[in-house]
Amino acid sequence: MHHFGSYEDRVKSFDWKISEKELEYQPGNVINIGWYCTDRICEMGKANKTALLWEGQGVPDRKYTYNDIRLASNTIGAYLRSLGIGAGDRVCLFMDKIPELYLGFLGVVKIGAIAQPLFSAFGDESLFIRLDDARTKAIITQRKHALKVRKILAQMPYLEHVIIVDHDGKKELKEREKPFSLDNATPVEHLEIHPTTAESPSVLHYTSGTTGKPKGVQHVHYSLISQYLTAKWVLDLRDDDIYWCTADPGWVTGTSYGIIAPFALGVTQCVQDVGFSAENWYRFIEKNKVTVWYSAPTAIRSLMKAGDEIVKKFTLTSLRHLASVGEPLNAEAVHWSNRVFGLPFHDTYWQTETGSIMITNFPGMKVKAGSMGRAFPGIESCVLDLKTYEPITEPGRIGLIAFKPGWPAMMRTYWNNPETYKNKFKNGWYLPGDRSSIDKEGYFWFAGRDDDIINTAGHLVSPFEVESALLEHQAVAESAVVAKPDEVNMEVVKAFVTLKRGFDAGPDLELDIMNFIRKRLSPLAMPQEIEYVASLPKTRSGKIMRRLLRAKEWGEEIGDTSTLEND
Ligand code: PRX
Repeated sequence: MHHFGSYEDRVKSFDWKISEKELEYQPGNVINIGWYCTDRICEMGKANKTALLWEGQGVPDRKYTYNDIRLASNTIGAYLRSLGIGAGDRVCLFMDKIPELYLGFLGVVKIGAIAQPLFSAFGDESLFIRLDDARTKAIITQRKHALKVRKILAQMPYLEHVIIVDHDGKKELKEREKPFSLDNATPVEHLEIHPTTAESPSVLHYTSGTTGKPKGVQHVHYSLISQYLTAKWVLDLRDDDIYWCTADPGWVTGTSYGIIAPFALGVTQCVQDVGFSAENWYRFIEKNKVTVWYSAPTAIRSLMKAGDEIVKKFTLTSLRHLASVGEPLNAEAVHWSNRVFGLPFHDTYWQTETGSIMITNFPGMKVKAGSMGRAFPGIESCVLDLKTYEPITEPGRIGLIAFKPGWPAMMRTYWNNPETYKNKFKNGWYLPGDRSSIDKEGYFWFAGRDDDIINTAGHLVSPFEVESALLEHQAVAESAVVAKPDEVNMEVVKAFVTLKRGFDAGPDLELDIMNFIRKRLSPLAMPQEIEYVASLPKTRSGKIMRRLLRAKEWGEEIGDTSTLEND
């Protein structure tokens, strides 16, 4: 039995105060994530403990102690303040997984500004839509990504500062661009931490919407209470662990469990900023003696595909606990990891909006391969009938996943979009937009999303965003974008397109359209297939019936199309 005791015991005696107590937080007091992740750990006597082990492509490894990350985040915070950036201002972090991304995040939240991390593979249009919605005041980026910012700068008068962390002194700086190098800056020993309280905004993460623009999910400093305890109990992080979260902080896993939780727990974490390959990953685990590994199903499926032989070339015996998030974790993946690592992957279910893990397999709890596990203690959950929104009591019937609001890391609103936020609730329940059934023992079995959003390799892509971008291509008259099944990525983007007169369907055009989307949006949003059609199926009111096209891709029964028409 695990040293924390049983799941049932923990549910019975649960209170978020457990977390508040461990963090020595009293309601009403100052709570600042940046301080908790750095200064507090140093004050606890761990200033010389390694906080971050970093590996990049073709450059020397880097190692930072807790005192190093305290100083670096102070230095960045002070620099931002010197530019006139302060509490409530949005500061975008637009970088690869380089140390400045992690340290910058902490610096931003230390001064009470709102961190807006964006995936560095985003193209100029994806970037513009999100900066424009947030009215972002500053962006911290790298030379190679600054080019994308330059393209859209004229349309963003509110964006006052473009901070480049790896500026080449020989190159000319363009309008609003400022060089900032941590290596050359004088370390700031004392930074006045902004006295943020529980409800002060901390992080703004953009997530895809089905029918509209991406939504800015707004989190607050109090989220730490959830993130800390879930990481301790679910990821089982302990003082002597070497932790590896493979997620990019452009997405919520990479901030909640790739920055906030591990640093607030004072563990050593490692980050790898090189391309994916099975060899790279196993070598990284071996080299750093990783003990706890938090990853995602697409990566696991890719590792499975690389084969069992390659696993044997490395010493991976340091591994002690494995967890996964972002997409359905198929039972085969769990059996496979049991076979090759001698450990099962523990599934965790949550989303950008929930801010922290909601449904999960605890260490020590029986893992049912293919199930997401049970609700985290303190989380009241059920599934609701798809039509009546009443809780389903019989085991095994599929309904909408529902949570009673009130856990600390729950989003507080969608930025600038209270209406959409309100629509996420029914009869007092928060609906994440997913379907599941619950078995007799309270285990959740994922059954798919309740909307048209595409989950490709664990990343949500909005069909609306891709369709809008497709319409900007000169050859495209109309388009419909749906998910198509894929062995490794689970789903990929497929576009149905009608062409304008005078354009010929053909491989050249297909490639041109694909590249167009890749550059404007991102490699994730790029359609893997384009099918030219004479017309698209529509409802009587003229709405494109995406679900009909999707059903065909998945070989599903289409059934009564009148129900589809009502959507
Ligand atoms: O559809 C669910 C799926 O990913 C969505 C959340 O995506 P995002 O907000 O980008 O956050 C990803 C990482 C927290 C969910 O609404 N999803 C997430 N975890 C699982 C999952 N689907 C099945 N099983 C999971 N464990």
